[in-house]
Amino acid sequence: MISDVPGPLPGFTLGQIQQRVHDLGPWFHNLNLGGVQTAPDHFLGDYPAVKWRRFSHALANDLRGKTVLDIGCNAGFYSFEMKRRGADRVLGIDSEEGYLDQARFAAAVNGLDVEFRNLSVYEVAGLRERFDVVLFLGVLYHLRYPLLALDVIHEHAAKDLLVFQSLLRGSPRVERIEKDYPFTETEVFNRPGFPCLHFVENCYAQDPTNWWIPNVACAQAMLRSAGFEILDRPEEEVFLCRRRNRAWRPRPEEELLMRRRRG
Ligand SMILES: C[S@@+](CC[C@H](N)C(=O)[O-])C[C@H]1O[C@@H](n2cnc3c(N)ncnc32)[C@H](O)[C@@H]1O
Repeated sequence: MISDVPGPLPGFTLGQIQQRVHDLGPWFHNLNLGGVQTAPDHFLGDYPAVKWRRFSHALANDLRGKTVLDIGCNAGFYSFEMKRRGADRVLGIDSEEGYLDQARFAAAVNGLDVEFRNLSVYEVAGLRERFDVVLFLGVLYHLRYPLLALDVIHEHAAKDLLVFQSLLRGSPRVERIEKDYPFTETEVFNRPGFPCLHFVENCYAQDPTNWWIPNVACAQAMLRSAGFEILDRPEEEVFLCRRRNRAWRPRPEEELLMRRRRG
């Protein structure tokens, strides 16, 4: 698989790339743009390349004929990997214009045909398109309405596969969920393997956009509840899912929320 670009590409001198990388910073994605690293001092190492190496085997190497939506694409690392695997169309969306500027520049340097748009996950209904592969990596815990986001993805964006990743905290245990619990059952809520979504009122890891951090059981339960079957867990924080029909129907006011479009 191609992950690095060996040297400055036609159209860009090394100096131009260095200057633009500096001007567009700071970067969260450490990309190699013609030999220039965009975030060489990332607190997680060579990120997200180190992460991707741990779950890249879970997706087909050949994505020809497939469409991909990368939600919360940041500077486009995963969008570029999907395009390098031959995906027909890759669309990266993010709600931060600064990250999209980085992504567009990186696409130009890499010579990769990837589209980037400023769009929130809550607005994907406006795309009026379903994608064969939806990437939803590292975004859920940044949202104040995480389940709404999963519901919207299911309702409007996902056709087949969802690749999901979340920061996870709390117990790694997962216990079987019963169909129902009597009102008198209180102990189950104290068990470490019961789904738990931790609310961060102030800040976590100096990032005020970290709002809800699930434990493993909760991440899995939320995915299932939104209508995704979990096929594989190729990495601790990553779940490969398939879109299925949901067991519940949204109420009319919930449908209205899910149909939200820009404007
Ligand atoms: C931790 S980064 C993850 C980036 C990339 N997906 C990855 O896994 O490396 C979270 C990204 O989600 C974006 N984001 C946050 N809220 C969003 C929203 N409501 N809709 C779309 N993107 C959002 C942020 O701007 C940021 O680029």
